[in-house]
Amino acid sequence: MKGVVLAGGLGTRLHPLTKVTNKHLLPVYDRPMIYYPIQTLVNAGIREILLVTGGNSAGDFLKLLGNGKEFGLQHLDYTYQEGEGGIADALRLAEYFADSDPVCVVLGDNIIERNIVRAAQAFRKQKSGAKILLKEVKNPQRFGVPVLEGDRVVRIEEKPNQPCSPYAVTGIYFYDARVFSIIKTLKPSGRGELEITDVNNAYIEAGQLTWDILDGWWTDAGTVESLHLANQLVAQTGANHLDGESQK
Ligand code: G1P
Repeated sequence: MKGVVLAGGLGTRLHPLTKVTNKHLLPVYDRPMIYYPIQTLVNAGIREILLVTGGNSAGDFLKLLGNGKEFGLQHLDYTYQEGEGGIADALRLAEYFADSDPVCVVLGDNIIERNIVRAAQAFRKQKSGAKILLKEVKNPQRFGVPVLEGDRVVRIEEKPNQPCSPYAVTGIYFYDARVFSIIKTLKPSGRGELEITDVNNAYIEAGQLTWDILDGWWTDAGTVESLHLANQLVAQTGANHLDGESQK
């Protein structure tokens, strides 16, 4: 399985912090934000990683990360997303890199306390389809929200005014190679983007989506409030713990 970190976008919800730099280069406690999703993939045993960037300061990622030596990697791949086409549009650029292998996709502003080792192992066994990770949150209307019937996710609603469940679909997704043909069928949403939620709904319709609950805390860091929260959580407990590792 290969890894893809999506770190494009203009980060407008963080203006003026992101007026001259990319959101994913902003600090979260003691590291640039982009370190956390890369560590999430590395901790899950994924060694081939593509970073999709775009917008401001794209060249700074290369300066900061180089070939990924700090993460024990020998090589990192990079690609550039033109414009603001959304998460699924950014993922489209990973088709050549995936080269028919399954991928684990992590949004560049998603930070986790623990790790995704268990989910990655389960997806390796699953062989085809997709897997998402859910987390109970106080404000599901900010996220993709699963509609559950028993333990089945029957649909995902993107930023619903009246959420049908207390869960957020986190920005960590596992996909088989079919994801790229699904993306080619998508139409832009109301906000003019190709939505990752539409990709997940296509897998649900095909009866090919599984889910798990993510262990430990999870947050995005794409708004002033969530970036502040991310800083506090990392300062308090640290992030990306492997099982059995002592907490800070
Ligand atoms: C995106 C997805 C949403 C998901 C969230 C996780 O939201 O569209 O479904 O729950 O990431 O961070 P956005 O970052 O566009 O608000």
